[in-house]
Amino acid sequence: MNEIDNIISGFFEPTIREYIGKIPVGKRLRSRLICAIAKNSDRRFFLSAIVETIHLASLLHDDIIDDAKTRRGAPSVFVTDGAKKAILVGDIFYASAFAKLTEFESAIAEVIGKAVAKLAYGEFLDVKLSESFNADRERYENMIYLKTAALIEASCEAAAILANKDRESFRNFGRLLGVAFQTIDDVLDITHNETELGKPSLNDLSEGKVTLPLIDFYYAADKNNQKKLISLFGKTITKSDADWLRSVLEQSGSIARSRQYAKELLDDAKSLVAGDDELSSVADALIRRIK
Ligand code: FPP
Ligand code: MG
Repeated sequence: MNEIDNIISGFFEPTIREYIGKIPVGKRLRSRLICAIAKNSDRRFFLSAIVETIHLASLLHDDIIDDAKTRRGAPSVFVTDGAKKAILVGDIFYASAFAKLTEFESAIAEVIGKAVAKLAYGEFLDVKLSESFNADRERYENMIYLKTAALIEASCEAAAILANKDRESFRNFGRLLGVAFQTIDDVLDITHNETELGKPSLNDLSEGKVTLPLIDFYYAADKNNQKKLISLFGKTITKSDADWLRSVLEQSGSIARSRQYAKELLDDAKSLVAGDDELSSVADALIRRIK
């Protein structure tokens, strides 16, 4: 992945370049997919660098919107440098990536451009849904498709265009994988601790995010437990609330059903790329996150 880092660094002059290092490197899921799909194209690293830069921009802004003080185990940039700079660096990352995108054929620029519009709309819906307790699974799933899966879907489709492969199959592969990825993230927020996550655990409900396991539990619960769940919405979760929440989510089967749903999406995704071992192993890396 060094090549991708070098390309990203080359996009910026030193004052802005230093901000890349302030966000610890993540799983690089989007780049791994692009490089696995377009492995014979010498432009795969350039496309990956553009997509990772867009992703970094979205994280800088997302942490401000979510008031998330840590990202990948490190203090968020708006905490260390202030929100003004974090917003502007995000804008610079985002605008620079778009300027570079014009060096690709218009079909690729269009696919990525439309995905970023979806990403921002998904984030808007996330904010809107967080204003009150949302138990509507369809609205939640539409929001996570837009917020998380759309850029993964577009990365796969753009890589397929680059590699002269079937756009539709890879688009569908990316969409299924993206929704599975977010569903697993929702589960990990409940089942894992702060050290493992690199950010506070059981944070979604406090942030007003009623994720899939919580929606599932809402419908499985009796009236009392429904009331208790709703009472925790948007609040700081105490140790006893956390113990209660984790135990009812396990006992009701909501965690297991959410994991199962993610596994089914992953299986569907993998069936679209059957025979491609490298791509399947990127998908398997996701499965391994489901403890
Ligand atoms: C993380 O979701 C959200 C995103 C990665 C999308 C954020 C999108 C924007 C801020 C729109 C603006 C986009 C650009 C390119 C400037 P999360 O909060 O559920 O996940 P987390 O736990 O990783 O924070
Ligand atoms: Mg966030």
